[in-house]
This record gives sequence, structure tokens and C-alpha cells, in this order.
Amino acid sequence: MKTRITELFGIEHPIIQGGMHFVGFAELAAAVSNAGGLGIITGLTQKTPADLANEIARCKDMTDRPFGVNLTFLPSFVAPPYPEYIKAIIDGGVKIVETAGRNPQPYLPYLKDAGIKVIHKCTSVRHSLKAETIGCDAVSVDGFECGGHPGEDDIPNMILLPRAAEELSVPFVASGGIGNAQQLVAALAMGADGVNMGTRFIATKEAPVHQNVKDALVAASELDTRLIMRPLRNTERVMMNSAVERVMEIEREAGDTLAIEDIRDLVSGVYPKVMGEGDMESGAWSCGMVAGLIHDIPTCADLIDRMMSEAETIIRGRLAAVL
Ligand SMILES: Cc1cc2nc3c(=O)[nH]c(=O)nc-3n(C[C@H](O)[C@H](O)[C@H](O)COP(=O)(O)O)c2cc1C
Repeated sequence: MKTRITELFGIEHPIIQGGMHFVGFAELAAAVSNAGGLGIITGLTQKTPADLANEIARCKDMTDRPFGVNLTFLPSFVAPPYPEYIKAIIDGGVKIVETAGRNPQPYLPYLKDAGIKVIHKCTSVRHSLKAETIGCDAVSVDGFECGGHPGEDDIPNMILLPRAAEELSVPFVASGGIGNAQQLVAALAMGADGVNMGTRFIATKEAPVHQNVKDALVAASELDTRLIMRPLRNTERVMMNSAVERVMEIEREAGDTLAIEDIRDLVSGVYPKVMGEGDMESGAWSCGMVAGLIHDIPTCADLIDRMMSEAETIIRGRLAAVL
């Protein structure tokens, strides 16, 4: 399959693995890239720019194919040393960066001067257009279904993607809620040039997370995610568990007076415990509604091959036949 995204990134299949905190290590990124997709290392999971340089080197040892690094611009008082992380990316020879969170504009000149292609992930048409205007090469349009931060507009991909197609000139991928071939074909039909998947890639053999996390995704249905932190305008879609129940209770009690301090222990610093130790009740962790469509734990190559071959069958078979 050839799309503007496969051309832009020099990849075989239009499938990207989005950056994921404490999931997007070199092992997963390399497995996705080796399977013909675009694997992405999560920059800020690496404690220091030197650690990121090391992770990039490890990934290069595992794949000769293109891979990217995610840089999430967080709304924090003490910003990570972004220029140094960017230097590690440039020095490491990485040619693709997925930005997310705040406007990446201040850092774009450094990335562009180094010949790096930037795909910005955002959750609305207006932010997508902004990304195009400031010079991003592509956009990852993240719908309300997504695991992680869906923004505050609550527009599902059935509307968001065709709206993005109406407005954008740069290539874009559909992100959020995607895990199978039907959805890939639907995304292409709605104007996207490929897909970005997060949650689905956690339930793969190579994802370097505890088996409990993968089993939880297979066991979960589409009804098992919740939205938290809405009063803070930092909404996050997470897997339901006892910690999330407690967060929601605190949110109900505090109403508009909710402060991050009220829930910090339940939402912050939990990824090493969940992803590393498999302690599934220790706090809130991002998870998309696509959990309802995850029924197995394949290798990344099996997952991507299956999606691509089934997509071809749908396009040549069912879709051609209805004409
Ligand atoms: C466990 C987890 C951690 C994530 N961490 C990040 C992150 O650090 N930075 C980021 O830009 N996106 C992050 N995301 C969002 C994904 O990159 C992707 O946009 C999202 O998962 C797409 O929705 P889906 O899960 O329905 O496929 C995370 C998602 C999950 C599930």
C-alpha cells in the first residue's frame, strides 16, 4: 500500500506506533519498524538526554529501517531540557519526530534544519491546521476514542477525520481507537493516509511491559475506559481500576475546586509500577476504547501483516463488490 505517509517516511505500511510512556522503548519501536511500520521511541521515558541517546543507539542495533522519537511537550513548571533531548535525536541520526502536547513551534527550526520530518499529534482540526501552518510535515489526528489525552472537544474520529480531510493539505494519519483492518480501510476512506496506534501495540509479544498489562487489554471491553482530570482541562482516557474509581470519587467531591495535588499520588509516577511490575491497581494508566477489539497478543509483524492483508481483502472484495 502506497500513501503520502509511506512516501514521506520511507516505510512499507501506513501504520505508526505512537509514543507511549514506559512502553515505547527500543524493543517495541524496532519490532514495529522491522515489520514495515514506523516504530517510535518515547523520548521523555528516558530520564536524561544521554539515556535517550543510548536508547536510540540500541534501536539502531535492532533495526536498519526508519524509526522515530516522540517528544511530548508537557504543561509543566519545570520543563525537561528539550534542547538537549533534541540534540540527542539529531546526533543519533533519527530522521522522524512525533511531537505532541503543546505547540512545538519553538523547537521546529532545530528539527527542520537537521532534515527531520515532524508529525504533530493533536486532537482538533484547529490544532491540526496550526501544525500545518507552522511547518509540520504531517499530522496525527487523535480522536475522542484514543488512549491518553483526547483533549476537551470530544469529537470522535467518524467526524474528526473527514473534517481534517476537508481542511488539511499535509498528509495525516488517523489516531485513536484503531486496531484492525476494517478501521484502517475506514480511515483511508475518510481521507487519512494511514493510522497511528497506541493501545493495540501494547498487546504485542515485543511490547516490553508486564504480561499483566497485555492480559488486562485482552480481558477488557470497550466499556472499560474512563475519562479523568476533566476539571483540570487535562482529560485522560484510562483503564478502569480501583485507583481510577478513587480518582473519580475525589473529583466528584471536589467539583470545580479540584487541584492536581488532590489526585497526584493516583495519577503520577505510576507507569513503572503498572508497566514494569504489572501492579494493575497502583494508579491510572492510559488506555483506549480499542481494548474492546483486542483479543490476542500477536507479534508486531503478525499484527501488521494481518491488518495489511485483511485490508486488501476488504478493498478488493467487499468494497469492490458493492459497486
Ligand atoms: C499507555 C499509553 C501511554 C501513552 N503515552 C504517550 C506519551 O507519552 N506521549 C504521547 O504523545 N502520547 C502518548 N500516548 C498516546 C499514543 O501515542 C496514541 O496517540 C494513542 O494511544 C492513540 O490511541 P489508541 O490508544 O486508541 O490507539 C499514550 C498512550 C497509551 C495507551
